[in-house]
Amino acid sequence: MKSLFDFEEQPDLRRLSFAELTERMLSCTLCPLSEGRTQAVPGEGPVPADLVFIGEGPGEVEDATGRPFVGPAGQLLDKILESAGLKREEAYITNMVKCRPPLNRTPKPEEVKTCWPYLDAQLRLLRPKIIVPLGNLAAQFFLKTDKGINLIRGQFFKWEGTVELFPMFHPSYLLRNPTKEKGGPKYLTWQDIQTLKGRLDELRASSRG
Ligand code: URA
Ligand code: URA
Repeated sequence: MKSLFDFEEQPDLRRLSFAELTERMLSCTLCPLSEGRTQAVPGEGPVPADLVFIGEGPGEVEDATGRPFVGPAGQLLDKILESAGLKREEAYITNMVKCRPPLNRTPKPEEVKTCWPYLDAQLRLLRPKIIVPLGNLAAQFFLKTDKGINLIRGQFFKWEGTVELFPMFHPSYLLRNPTKEKGGPKYLTWQDIQTLKGRLDELRASSRG
């Protein structure tokens, strides 16, 4: 059975270079989110990238600057990465949709569907070892599940049979639930990032042979 989140890829996008793909996103008018944006936010980081983080969609600061995860949630993401000795610059950071939803609402399934071919084409060029979906929208999309992030975070899954998938809480959720109590979302996230770093080191070591 086809789920809501089984979308068609666009083969023509898969033939573009990363720069061409970025240009397409910046000028995209395929969905109504394009009407409300200041600018599209394609993503940022090295190409290719061992590690890719995928959020929901740009917020206010992202829409204003054209960069992903630079507002309050992004600053928390940077701290989470640093706590495990990871640098923001070694990961590619992007979102399910590239244009800011009005009032930061969750992107609609139709919007995610329309924007997916861009992310699909990005991922083919990025060739990550690990994809980290942040929060329910991205995690449920990649796992094709309706299970909540609580049940799927902090575990390794496979995407398309080869790429490791490691869902984590969205940093915006941590901003809304800031206590560090044992077993709480912040506590678990600080564990998850260590687990992620450990696995990344392993995969990097084995690809060096
Ligand atoms: N939240 C997201 O999901 N993405 C961003 O880029 C910023 C905040
Ligand atoms: N809902 C989300 O979308 N993400 C979280 O991390 C938690 C709740």
